Amino acid sequence: MSYNISIQKINKSKAANIDFNAIPLGTLFTDHMFICDYENGNWVNPRIEPLALIPTHPAAMALHYGQAIFEGMKATVDSEGNPMLFRPLENAARLNKSANRMGMPNFPVELFVEGLKHLVSLEQQWIPPKEGSALYLRPFMYADEPFIGMRAATHYKFIIITSPAGPFFSKRIKLWAEKKYIRAAAGGTGEAKAAGNYAAAIRPTEYAKAKGYDQVLWLDAVAHQYIQEVGTMNIFFKINGKFITPKLDGSVLDGITRKSVIELLRSDGYEVTERLISITEIKEASLNGTLEEAFGTGTAVGIAYIQEIGLDGETIFVSNESPVGNAVNNTLNAIKTGKQKDRFNWMLKVKKEYV
Ligand SMILES: Cc1ncc(COP(=O)(O)O)c(C=O)c1O
Repeated sequence: MSYNISIQKINKSKAANIDFNAIPLGTLFTDHMFICDYENGNWVNPRIEPLALIPTHPAAMALHYGQAIFEGMKATVDSEGNPMLFRPLENAARLNKSANRMGMPNFPVELFVEGLKHLVSLEQQWIPPKEGSALYLRPFMYADEPFIGMRAATHYKFIIITSPAGPFFSKRIKLWAEKKYIRAAAGGTGEAKAAGNYAAAIRPTEYAKAKGYDQVLWLDAVAHQYIQEVGTMNIFFKINGKFITPKLDGSVLDGITRKSVIELLRSDGYEVTERLISITEIKEASLNGTLEEAFGTGTAVGIAYIQEIGLDGETIFVSNESPVGNAVNNTLNAIKTGKQKDRFNWMLKVKKEYV
């Protein structure tokens, strides 16, 4: 099916005034946005418009009942300046998985990809060229039907906004293993990228930071033993030469970086097992000297190297260096900038003159 995306361009781009060597984090947005409305059971009127405020009724259901989901992804350029997307079909599939859990309509996968291609092509001068930099893409969907009452909305908006992001030099991070607050429980919304999950994580993250930690290490909701994720990243441990990562049990987000890192590690000959991992097992591995590395994985930062974990007033030391994590990060960045062959077929090229 082909979609007719109408385009209204701005007169003069703001991109020319931007210093790509000093990009502010999360506050700078590009000239345009993609919008589509859900009415009478159909997605209609896909369009690209100048970025502007979106008038919202005060009874819009997303504001009250939280039907709001999002995705996070990045566009990069290859050495010839051609824009590329990293695994966009994975994000489309995950958006629809989140929509299913939250009682929201699916968004057509082809329109998701077409909308991204049109927008990224139009905004290509905003893609920072430096390795590790990217144009962050934020597709999201929310219920904008004005209604007081508890049911699925009948009117939604799907929007994509974009924001340039500088290279992320991750310092080694310290985690706080959280035993009071939880992120997700079996049967809950942990595997959906639902806005409410992030709201519930804000206060516990503030508490962890006040104690001198960088991120929360989320544990399971019942025993407070089994590791789920770290902050807004998935997590990997290297013990005795082999990798383990928590299995996707419904309470863990199915990270696209996670999936990619598993493929990269396996193709480099490492064994990677997805299973239950208890914090006690990690503590014991640290004590007996077999814990070699740990890192978080996610679109925003790539790979975040873990230094130590605070648990019940004790410190679990992980490592001072992450050679394998670092190699994986470099490979991911090299694939995303066309410097290394895209041997897994992850990159989707966007024609420069798509729009
Ligand atoms: C809770 C959570 N876990 C994991 C991830 C990592 O997912 P991805 O690699 O797709 O960015 C994210 C970020 O999207 C997240 O918000």
